[in-house]
Amino acid sequence: MKHLFLAVCLLLCSGALTAQTLNIIPTPQHTEVGQGHFTFNANTRLAYKHKDAKEVAQYFAQKIQRTAGFPLRKGKMGAAGTITLEMDASIKGREAYQLTITSDRVVAKASTADGLFYAVQSLLQLLPPEVESQQQLPKVEAWQIPVVKIDDAPRFPYRGVMLDPCRHFLPVDAVKRQIDMLAAYKINYLHWHLTEDQGWRIEIKKYPRLTEVGSRRVEGDGSVHQGFYTQEQIREVVEYARQRHIQVVPELEIPGHELAAIAAYPELSCRGEATTPRNIWGVEDVVMCPGKERMFTFLQDVIDEMVQLFPGKYFHIGGDECPRGEWEKCDSCQARMKAQGYTREAQLQSYIIGRIEKYLRGKGKTIIGWDEILEGGNLDTTAIVMSWRGESGGITAAKAHHHVLMTPADQGCYFDYYQGDPMVEPPYFGGYYTLERIFSYDPVPAQLKGTDGEQYVLGIQANNWSEYIHTPGRLEEGLYPRALALAEVGWSQMETRDAQSFVHRVDNDHALRLQAHHINFHIPRVEQPGGSCNHVVFTDRKMLELSTSRPLAIYYTLDGTKPTEKSTRYTGPITLTQTTLVKAVAQLPCGILGPVRTILVEKEDWHPATRSVVVEKGLRLTLNWGRFDTPYRLPETSDLPPTVVPAIESLRTLTDVPRNVRGVRDYAATVEGYVNMPEKAIYEFNTQNHLVWIDNKLVIDNGTQAVPRISTNNAQIALDKGMHSIRVTFLGGIYNGWPTYWDDAKLKYRVVGTKDWQEVKPEMLFH
Ligand code: ACM
Ligand code: ZN
Repeated sequence: MKHLFLAVCLLLCSGALTAQTLNIIPTPQHTEVGQGHFTFNANTRLAYKHKDAKEVAQYFAQKIQRTAGFPLRKGKMGAAGTITLEMDASIKGREAYQLTITSDRVVAKASTADGLFYAVQSLLQLLPPEVESQQQLPKVEAWQIPVVKIDDAPRFPYRGVMLDPCRHFLPVDAVKRQIDMLAAYKINYLHWHLTEDQGWRIEIKKYPRLTEVGSRRVEGDGSVHQGFYTQEQIREVVEYARQRHIQVVPELEIPGHELAAIAAYPELSCRGEATTPRNIWGVEDVVMCPGKERMFTFLQDVIDEMVQLFPGKYFHIGGDECPRGEWEKCDSCQARMKAQGYTREAQLQSYIIGRIEKYLRGKGKTIIGWDEILEGGNLDTTAIVMSWRGESGGITAAKAHHHVLMTPADQGCYFDYYQGDPMVEPPYFGGYYTLERIFSYDPVPAQLKGTDGEQYVLGIQANNWSEYIHTPGRLEEGLYPRALALAEVGWSQMETRDAQSFVHRVDNDHALRLQAHHINFHIPRVEQPGGSCNHVVFTDRKMLELSTSRPLAIYYTLDGTKPTEKSTRYTGPITLTQTTLVKAVAQLPCGILGPVRTILVEKEDWHPATRSVVVEKGLRLTLNWGRFDTPYRLPETSDLPPTVVPAIESLRTLTDVPRNVRGVRDYAATVEGYVNMPEKAIYEFNTQNHLVWIDNKLVIDNGTQAVPRISTNNAQIALDKGMHSIRVTFLGGIYNGWPTYWDDAKLKYRVVGTKDWQEVKPEMLFH
């Protein structure tokens, strides 16, 4: 019986040791696993001849020296006990490689250094995860590498990640750390978004005010956010990336999203009015003026300096989200339109793109632009279209024989979108795209399959817009491990991709590699099915159900201590009969624990309805003018005479707020009175307002929430049918780039156990 079991096991194991169970991400195109191992130790030699192989060999040797602590001495090409890096022109494909591991030697072949570099990445992934350590390991005797023959090449030539240091600056070290990590997954393009409404981040010697003025933004609370890359730092990053076979694609955004440059040189805009870099998110109406020649002179001067710094073939010119209202009212713009015989402002957009495209073509560059560059017509066919507003721009462009890069927000290519329940995650822009969802994406849309448009899809990109990415750690939490799914989508053939095997590889092995690089990668937090809530209320007993966005072990404590894998393992709903602080954590199969989730589960008596006589509709309002940083200690007296407002959302509309949210008279306001609840129930409340008190209990406290827009502080309370006192406080102002005037300021509720949220409507409010 035991032998039979062993035999079945061997059969299964060997049969299953295919491309998908080999540890490599992205999954290689073709893999043949053999028997046995190559033993890698201090006697292993490294051989290469070709000068292009030398840099790859050094990269590998340095990594081994750093972790294993021994040098790889130079060996003879193809000899036993040797890892050979061989240039072989017969390997077809610029990034293709062949990696043959037998029990006595390792041979990597490629026709370019790119291919050899990727062979080395695959080889590293066949070594244990410790090889990625940033320090020397205690003692490495030997590592075993499985016998295998890999023939590999990417599905798409462009596999990219975009970084946005404009909304929140990203220091050089953090950029390099991403380059290191992304290169390990055969990502080969870094799109660097360097100019924005909220900040100009690249030194341009001819226009020093771009960084003196444009790289510095005064936030809503008066603090300053600033940062830019010197040309020397840019060169350093570009070279660092080159050594890791990543081409840096700079983005100079035109003609919109350029308020920081306009703040430095107001004559670039239609009106030429003085301004400052935008300190709120969203799209600025003030844009560059294509009616003026000096705008083109400026862009060409900037390009002249930028092309010296970025030797790659591609140059991104933005082109997205450019409001045209200013052009309609501008004499210069209208004169340009007349001279060109244009009837629509959209043609001005294509006029700019066309002129700059031609200028860049003269410098040997191919332009990439967001899909709006198709608008207005006349786009040169060499221009590459980056499809972000879904796939439709990409489909149209490919049919018109433009090369296309797929980065549709609605297919999970925006890594600033959620990957878990927003109630338990730090703030993201919105959306919801899990690791598995991104993994399943096919960059060739069904409409292009089998048409000649198919061949125009050059690849895929993930974008990391940084409105809510305040630190490198937050960037990494959005980016990893989703970048590994992106790598599979960009490199691996659809038929070799297997979601279950992918998640297995990530959770068992690659998580350890990310950890070795000190990457703050995302680990699912413990959630509650049907909607997570950090403050659960019951009156009798509670069955608390827990889950994770992908299946993982959950451990929890009920005594307030930090949970570990030694705590109670969750196997089903936890029965609670008294007030308890539940702390829970998910664990990856490789042993790494995720962030701890804390849920207050409170036993309450039913809050009785008030017997006071309340007759009038509406709520009493108090207000204090000024900017308040917290809602906790507001003045006792109101700056207004006694006022009644009809709704809770009236809190938001007490001042004039122009589209650009400039010159607003900020305030703090509170409404007070009674809410008439329709039935006896345990209710869950949700709001973006700062504080909600019901029956003198502080139910929702968003006072310390970094971004009030995204409250994770839903809370429950047990209420009898009828009137309950209520008090809601709102702070009007810009908080971390978010004007609270953009919130809906509503108070929402649902009966616990039901799905749909209702609004607290004016007919429920009295005073
Ligand atoms: C974009 O997300 N505005 C390209
Ligand atoms: Zn103009």
